[in-house]
Amino acid sequence: MSLISIETENCNLCGICVERCANNFLQSADEITATAREDTCALCGHCVALCPTDVIVHHQMDMYNFPALDRKLKFDPDQFEEFVRGRRSIRSYKKKKIPRQDLARLVDLCRYAPTGGNKQDVEILVIEDEERNARISKLTAAFIAELYPPPKADPGESAPPPRPDPIFYKAPAVMIFHQPKNSGKTDSVIAAQTVVLAAMTLRLGTCYIGFLEYAWHNSEEVREEVNLPDDRTIGSVLILGYPKQKYLRSVDRFPMNVRWE
Ligand SMILES: Cc1cc2nc3c(=O)[nH]c(=O)nc-3n(C[C@H](O)[C@H](O)[C@H](O)COP(=O)(O)O)c2cc1C
Repeated sequence: MSLISIETENCNLCGICVERCANNFLQSADEITATAREDTCALCGHCVALCPTDVIVHHQMDMYNFPALDRKLKFDPDQFEEFVRGRRSIRSYKKKKIPRQDLARLVDLCRYAPTGGNKQDVEILVIEDEERNARISKLTAAFIAELYPPPKADPGESAPPPRPDPIFYKAPAVMIFHQPKNSGKTDSVIAAQTVVLAAMTLRLGTCYIGFLEYAWHNSEEVREEVNLPDDRTIGSVLILGYPKQKYLRSVDRFPMNVRWE
């Protein structure tokens, strides 16, 4: 049996589903039939979301989770530019916990980010435990310091005081995005960037922490403390919290090196 059925009596034969997905729909003069199988259907949901007569039922997807889109909603390009240009990596946080429901909302939202082949195999480890984060941060800092010893102070000058938490900056939450070992990290990075932007709408700041990613890949001690399942590998790390400082301006960037051909 096909994974998809069509309520044929209400189908207007517009053929949009066939045009979108010739692998899983067949059209004849008076009928469209769905032929979707496990190995042909990517569970992308496009057929259901495109159908103007709502006659497509996907039996492996939650048909209650296809909310109608408000097509009148307009996103102003200038406001969006300001939103993107206003994002900063935040390294100074208020000592304030993030409500669990807000973290859960971010986790839920990034399910809707794209994944290669619609695999949806990114997972997230969220660590709110202050002591555990302090341990991971300390191990990571020690590993990084071995690789990149801090610059020596000039004679007669005193070295700057050590920063209290140079890896996680005492952020109240850490999100570790991971994927199967045989997958590339792209899906995790896209999920993480979706969280970065969504977090801003909740007045949260974020910062990628490549140092932990690097340390995890190269230090047994760090891997033990993070404790991911053996078949998973880190794709991206974020810290999150309420920013202590308010940026009043956007920042300059190099021009994009682009070739138009
Ligand atoms: C992949 C990646 C890894 C990063 N790793 C770290 C990190 O380990 N520690 C840190 O303080 N900042 C880290 N950052 C933040 C960058 O330093 C920051 O994005 C850059 O300086 C530009 O600043 P902005 O994000 O405020 O525009 C990372 C950013 C990216 C994209």
